[in-house]
Amino acid sequence: MRIYIEENYEAMSKKAALLVASQVIINPKSILGLATGGTPLGMYNCLVEMFHDGELDFSEIKTFNLDEYYGLSKEDDQSYYGYMNENFFKHINILKENTDIPNGKAEDVLKECEAYDEKIKVSGGIDLQILGIGSNGHIGFNEPADKLNVKTHLVNLSQKTISDNSRFFANKEDVPKQAISVGLETIMKSKKIIMLASGKSKAEAIKAMVSGYVDTHIPASILQTHSDVVLVVDKEAASLI
Ligand code: GLP
Repeated sequence: MRIYIEENYEAMSKKAALLVASQVIINPKSILGLATGGTPLGMYNCLVEMFHDGELDFSEIKTFNLDEYYGLSKEDDQSYYGYMNENFFKHINILKENTDIPNGKAEDVLKECEAYDEKIKVSGGIDLQILGIGSNGHIGFNEPADKLNVKTHLVNLSQKTISDNSRFFANKEDVPKQAISVGLETIMKSKKIIMLASGKSKAEAIKAMVSGYVDTHIPASILQTHSDVVLVVDKEAASLI
């Protein structure tokens, strides 16, 4: 695992954007796995800037997002569909039909999960996966547990995650209790992975993630067994390693 420790959030975002930009330049038909949350916002801003400067072309890029809140429609401001559109897609020349996010309003969730896995498989799999990390060590919405899911699945969010993510909602009660998340297979089969982490609240999770042990209660620790992971962290997130 290559680790870049950057001075602050801005530097972390810039480094991550450069890594994504090189992937897009090297292979303009890349399949990108995308993450949401507060952490990658700066990276998306940098990529949008590079696009406006004429440095990047997303017209043949395809994307699959890691997860979506269950029960939120595409129109909901707090949905990850809304997040991606607002923070990235509407600012670049990516084609709508080339972007995929699990449908949080799917009536048949099992069918939705199977179809999502199949679509990723048919596309050839993820070339570059962007990941954040939950303060409890989750990736996507693969929450700490005795057993971890391989496939895309419906997950009950942990109290910690609900509490962490409540900062994006008007009331804690508004945070959905469930989500659809890709499983560890999609993440681990990605050819390259970039994980971003910023701030003191992520320091414990980052320490456990690089500990030398795989622990299902720190789902991100499985990344130690992937052959091409780049960890981009700021000094605070790296303070315990
Ligand atoms: C969210 C997302 C993850 C994200 C993580 C950290 O709930 N499901 O994909 O990486 O939690 O979020 P943040 O970057 O806001 O700390």
